[in-house]
Order: sequence, then structure tokens, then C-alpha cells
Amino acid sequence: MTGRTLCFPSLAPFSSLPSKMGRSYRSFASQVSSLQPLAHPSSPHREDGDAEAEWDGLGFGLMPTDYMYVAKCSGDRNFGRGQLRLFGNFQVSPSAGVLNYGQGVFEGTKAHRKENGHLLLFRPEQNAMRMRMGADRMCMPAPSVDQFVNALKQTALANRRWVPPPAKGSLYLRPLLIGTGPVLGLAPAPEYTFLIYASPVGTYFKEGTAPLNLYVEEDTDRASRRGTGSVKTISNYAPVLMAQMRAKNRGFSDVLYLDSQTKKNLEEVSSCNIFIAKGKNISTPATNGTILAGITRKSVIEIARDLGYQVEERAVGVDELAEADEVFCTGTAVGVAPVGTITYRDARMEYRTGRGTICQELSSTLTGIQTGKIEDGRGWIHEIF
Ligand SMILES: Cc1ncc(COP(=O)(O)O)c(C=O)c1O
Repeated sequence: MTGRTLCFPSLAPFSSLPSKMGRSYRSFASQVSSLQPLAHPSSPHREDGDAEAEWDGLGFGLMPTDYMYVAKCSGDRNFGRGQLRLFGNFQVSPSAGVLNYGQGVFEGTKAHRKENGHLLLFRPEQNAMRMRMGADRMCMPAPSVDQFVNALKQTALANRRWVPPPAKGSLYLRPLLIGTGPVLGLAPAPEYTFLIYASPVGTYFKEGTAPLNLYVEEDTDRASRRGTGSVKTISNYAPVLMAQMRAKNRGFSDVLYLDSQTKKNLEEVSSCNIFIAKGKNISTPATNGTILAGITRKSVIEIARDLGYQVEERAVGVDELAEADEVFCTGTAVGVAPVGTITYRDARMEYRTGRGTICQELSSTLTGIQTGKIEDGRGWIHEIF
């Protein structure tokens, strides 16, 4: 949609931003005025007012929103001041590092709309730090924590009309750091792009909020010792598609990976961490380099301890699945999701789900904090408006 006027229905409320966002409000305002209209894919939205979206029954798919944040870095390894631009395609060299050698890391976080209309971000500095660690492993420069968090806030506010109403979903924010400079011989790219785009989302799995049915994968490994399993690099994800597709075709929700060395311990699911519970004891695989240190995982551990549960981060044997009362998954996209069954070889194990479960208590506490219904006593929430 070229030549469309850059209308910010939500600009007026930004005048109240400095108290909450300080510097970022001013840079945001100046960036808006310098935005150039770019080619825009057709998308179901209007130029102003509320997004014309069907908020009921949202799943997890791309619904293009208005703006994306873009910053570039070459030579000095510093990302210059980023810009909000209309969401849309951009050009890269066929020889870009990301296309040829998979030099890229990404993040995922959500903005929730509070009852009063303000937006809430959950622990965005954790995503920033994880991106920096991942970038280091992949030989890439990364934005500072401040730049990352500011960019997230700008992207969320610029797309605020795409944040679903309370209880209908959230605005998923996808920060991406990729080698866009050209390389031919195997080497780090000479230029990098940091961008953030957004999409309204609802439940991640097609099961919605119903319990998941997992399959223990033994034919393929997700990660190896001293590999990149603990890094949110784009190159970790295509390799899990085959096992995931195979499992889905057999009616499972997803696969549960085992450690590649002994095949005796649980690792994680394709895109979320795993917990088991027995009585008041909760266990989750320790982060030893092969699994992603989920921000939801870390938060759920803290919440569970505060609620009086004993939580252990340790090697969790696959044989413990037979004894567990409950199993659940955690992740930004899935939240705290109950697992109803796990199939391991010929055995199908069933778990408690629903009312009165630990999973439900943790899920409602976490969601309550993320949506502003439960007071955040830990400094996890950034409220922006
Ligand atoms: C492989 C993997 N494990 C776990 C997670 C959960 O991490 P987080 O809670 O930070 O979203 C994700 C999602 O990003 C993931 O891709």
C-alpha cells in the first residue's frame, strides 16, 4: 500500500509518555515524522482506529501489523539509531550471511493490553540479554540492552491498535538479528540488521488450552554437547521440523527431546521447556548448554518457589515420566501448558490436568502478572502507554 498517509491514531496519548519512557518517547516521536512510506503487503487493517481483526479464536500465525523497527550495524559493531518503518519486505543480497550460513538469532516476547488500555511488557531485558549471549556465540554484534528494550517499546506502541483486547490474546513481538552483509567464503557477515516485527496472537497449539499429547523423540537429537542448543539461533529450528511433522502427522502435539549422549534424560520440546511434578515437588532439566534457558521457565521456577513448592533444576530421567503426577510446558508462546499424555516407545502415560493442578495455579499466577491482574512485586513488568 504505497503512498498511504502515516497516521498514528495513538500518537496523542504518547504525549503522556515521558514519565514512563523518557528518552524513548522523544526518539520515537522524531522517528515517526521521518518515516518513509514503503511498499506494504495487503493486510486487514485500516489507516486509523482499531484494527479490523477478528479477536475471537486467535491462533498463532502472522497477521501483518503497521510498523517494524529496523537498525543496522557494520564496521564499528554498533547499531545506529533505529527507525520505525512500515512493515513490509526488504531486500538483501543473495550472498547475505543469514541466507548462506544461517547467521541469525531471534527472540519472542509479548505485549498484553491491560484493562486501562496501557500495554505491559514482560521482562524484556531478559530477552535482550539472551540475544546478546546468542549473538556472541554466533559471532555477531548485538544491540545494547537499552536499545533492545526501547525498540521493543516503540514497536509495541506503534502497533498498539493490534494488541488484542484483554483475555483475547496478545501482541507477539519478534526481535530478529541477522547477518545481512554479503559473504562468500565462510566468515561472519560484514553487516547486520536488527529488526522487530509484531503480530497479534492467541493460543500456540491447535489444541488451544486443551492438554498436549507429546511424543518422546529418539530418532533425532535437537542439540549436542558444546553445540548451540542453549542459543536461540535460527539454525536450531529447521532441523526439528522433520520430527515435529512426523509426530503431528501421527496426531501428537509436539515432540519431547532426550539428551543426545545417553538418551536417558529429558531436554525440552521443540519450542518450550518441560517440567514434571510429583506431590509438592517440581523438577525441570537443568540448563547445561543443550536446552534454551527459557524466560518463562525462569519465572515459573521463581513463582513456584514463592508459592511453597520445592523446585529442582537437575537431570530429569525419562523413566521419571512414569511416576509423575503432572507434566507441563513453559514458553512465551505457549505460556504454562498442561501435558495430558506422553508416549514413550510403547507406553502412553497420562497426567492430571485441569482444576486444582499445580500447572493451573502456575499458569494463572503467571498470566495474572503478565496481564496486570496480579500485582507485580518483582519488577518484571514494563507498563507503557
Ligand atoms: C527451544 C525453546 N525452548 C524453550 C523456549 C521457551 O523460552 P521462553 O520462555 O523464553 O519463551 C523456547 C521459546 O522461545 C524455545 O524456542
